[in-house]
Amino acid sequence: MPLRAMNDLTAHNASLAGELSAAVTRVLDSGWYVLGREVAAFEEAFAAHCGVPHAIGVGNGTDALELALAGVGIGRGDRVALVANAGGYGTAAVRALGAIPVYVDVSPETWLLDPVALDRALSGGVGAVIVTHLYGRLADMAALSAVAARHGVKIVEDCAQAHGAARDGRRAGSFGAAAAFSFYPTKNLGALGDAGVVVTADPAVAERVTRLRQYGWDRKYRMATGPGRNSRLDEIQAAVLRVKLPHLDAWNARRVALARRYTTSITHPKVALPVIEAPWHVAHLFVVRTADRDGLAAHLRAHGVPSETHYPIPDHRQPGFGDRFADVSLPVTEQLCAETLSLPCYPEMSDADADLVATAVDRWEV
Ligand SMILES: Cc1ncc(COP(=O)(O)O)c(C=O)c1O
Repeated sequence: MPLRAMNDLTAHNASLAGELSAAVTRVLDSGWYVLGREVAAFEEAFAAHCGVPHAIGVGNGTDALELALAGVGIGRGDRVALVANAGGYGTAAVRALGAIPVYVDVSPETWLLDPVALDRALSGGVGAVIVTHLYGRLADMAALSAVAARHGVKIVEDCAQAHGAARDGRRAGSFGAAAAFSFYPTKNLGALGDAGVVVTADPAVAERVTRLRQYGWDRKYRMATGPGRNSRLDEIQAAVLRVKLPHLDAWNARRVALARRYTTSITHPKVALPVIEAPWHVAHLFVVRTADRDGLAAHLRAHGVPSETHYPIPDHRQPGFGDRFADVSLPVTEQLCAETLSLPCYPEMSDADADLVATAVDRWEV
């Protein structure tokens, strides 16, 4: 049967239907729906999974980025370095704080923040850097941390696409001063709605984020830190995430197996493939690169194979910015945004599904 979409969340959640229903019913019966026992239990479990002492549940991944940045001290007028090929979420978080995005190009090999370009950018008075582990690939944190430390700049990791990715025994989220995760339903660990978390090893950052997610309160109705906001994790999403977290590593392993299958079965000379170096790549997306990206997408569509572009417009070229970043040139980022295409890669796909996609790619006449 042809693949209908880039993900099959119905099949994904059906595999745990009984446990998920029981978890939702437990919350329903508890009479407590926001920031309660389920949230506390999930925060503890997720912090342990990441290997850090603190996790603070919030409303979604973009809020997690914003609150993590605020937690490490970023505010109005501060400059934050980040990539421009990662969907604009970091930019939204930076702007929500009244801070200023400073775009840095990515490496042509990894498609992630380039340590050499970062070094140059940090000479210009930057308050923090967002390192995005894009597509499931953990960035070279040793190199990036050395650059950031040399400039005295804190790192906030964006782990929205890299739950569980690990390098040298450390998981995504355990390297920076703080890290943000999204649990949007399509993520490697996904809720049944919006959800997110900030993790950190620093108790002061944890306390600040805990206050800021709820009006700046240190206790009910007492605003001790500001400006705060309302970005809380609700009990139903936390209960769902508690059911799913124990399956994350197995789901990641299945994604990686599919991605590796693609890397041996797709042999088209005009389609460049990513290198999948598990365990630091958890194959959130399988992204190929080709000069005629739109041609490949149209060919696949004609053969019943879905694909998607993550992401077609770099942040500094978004129309909402007008010509604000007209003088910013990021050659690698701009080329990637014109050439990348994501193929279906999710745990419920069969090997036969993957082979069907690979055959369709190889039949592309260009
Ligand atoms: C890399 C990255 N960062 C941040 C986010 C933002 O997460 P959310 O959609 O939960 O706000 C997403 C996903 O949407 C993402 O892919």
